[in-house]
Amino acid sequence: MANKTVTLTDNTTGKSIELPIMDPTHGNSVVDIGKLAKEFGYFTYDPGFVSTASCKSTITFLDGERGQLYYRGYPIEQLAAKCCFLEVAYLLLNGRLPTEQELSEFQYIIGHHNMMRENLRYNLIRGFNYDAHPMAMMTGIVGSLSAFYHDNLDIYNPEHRMITSHRLIAKIPTIAAACYKHNTGQPFVFPQNHLTYCGNLLHMMFAVPCEPYHVDPVAEKALDVLFILHADHEQNASTSTVRLAGSSGANPYAAIAAGVASLWGPAHGGANEAVLKMLAEIGDVSNIDKYIARAKDKDDSFRLMGFGHRVYRNYDPRAKLIKEVCHQVLAKYGDDPHLELAMKLEDIALSDEFFIERKLYPNVDFYSGIIYKALGIPINMFTVMFAVARTVGWISHWKEMIDDPELKIGRPRQLYVGEAHRDVPDLADR
Ligand code: SDX
Repeated sequence: MANKTVTLTDNTTGKSIELPIMDPTHGNSVVDIGKLAKEFGYFTYDPGFVSTASCKSTITFLDGERGQLYYRGYPIEQLAAKCCFLEVAYLLLNGRLPTEQELSEFQYIIGHHNMMRENLRYNLIRGFNYDAHPMAMMTGIVGSLSAFYHDNLDIYNPEHRMITSHRLIAKIPTIAAACYKHNTGQPFVFPQNHLTYCGNLLHMMFAVPCEPYHVDPVAEKALDVLFILHADHEQNASTSTVRLAGSSGANPYAAIAAGVASLWGPAHGGANEAVLKMLAEIGDVSNIDKYIARAKDKDDSFRLMGFGHRVYRNYDPRAKLIKEVCHQVLAKYGDDPHLELAMKLEDIALSDEFFIERKLYPNVDFYSGIIYKALGIPINMFTVMFAVARTVGWISHWKEMIDDPELKIGRPRQLYVGEAHRDVPDLADR
């Protein structure tokens, strides 16, 4: 078919420009506006990138209308049912599912990069206040990794990129557990390579030297499914931050640290922590209507945390799966009044015109915190768990970007609405 185009006409001057359309595998076609500034003299304006594609990607696709999510073309429901987290990590990183042999080799590699330099653990982590928020520690520690692992940092060397990717995927659970141990004052626990990725994380967090620790298979499986569901999600705020930071040629540890920082925001990955705080504040089913009214009140900054999504205009498929895991975990660990409150809140919100009209559904963060809480994970560690899972998504996008022949440093333009040109008055005349 002849190249598809759109024509943009400036109704003031009558001048037009023809812009090419690029078609996707799935989802919306895009208008390539690359030549707009040079040939037509205009920038486009799109705060929050509501209608703007920042890149091409082969990694993940969300169908916002249907509420569907695909990693490398595979539906998330099938991946969550048939794969372990490291299989999905391999898929995101390499573009295909591993064979048994490849998975075994990948597990060996990850298991032999999961320790950290002793002076990183002993000096840097112990240098934080004992009550530092673990996301503050994660941001600092991940950003410091190039100071401890300054080999294999030639980002244009594919082998270096893969070694650094393996290091980040392998070390992020160890770092997360070390932050938790620092908060609790308990001794740090080293990874054990006979355990699975998630079993190891539970062991490093909850084992203590004075008694044996047995990984509970229910907790291990729940964490594995949660990590699969959190592993990647197209060009969300933190992934876009990683891409923008990495586009300058900054080392991948620094770029991923920027992603950790962005994820911490309550509008993004920090929402899982905010949901539990919100449920605790609501306290009882009898208070739900008051909080729903606040969420609808334009003059009230309160939002229903764990609800709404920029892309999903239908139920977040991850929330559906996480809700199922919730029931399995609570069946083992005992009921949590927060779940009943959350489900009641969901029912009331989803029957309210304000939420229906704006297509606001529970998102990935609405139920995940209830599971983490049931597993004994403290609320300030919820976003850390999100960061552990999303690290493979971040580093997969970073690799894809560095590999992209069209890579340019990200440098958005602006609409300047400040003061017009003026001269500086002498100090005495100000
Ligand atoms: C994640 O991008 C990703 O993929 C992110 C993520 C990932 O995996 O990486 O999916 C993870 O970040 C999930 C989202 C977690 N955040 C929250 O749960 C925080 C609460 N949700 C919102 O702040 C909000 O819904 C966002 C940030 C998620 C999306 O915001 P948008 O797309 O910018 O939507 P908007 O702010 O323009 O809202 C549209 C309308 C507004 O009302 P009107 O001005 O049209 O009258 O919906 C309202 C908003 O006021 N609205 C809400 C609401 N979310 C949107 N009203 C009450 N409660 C909410 N949660």
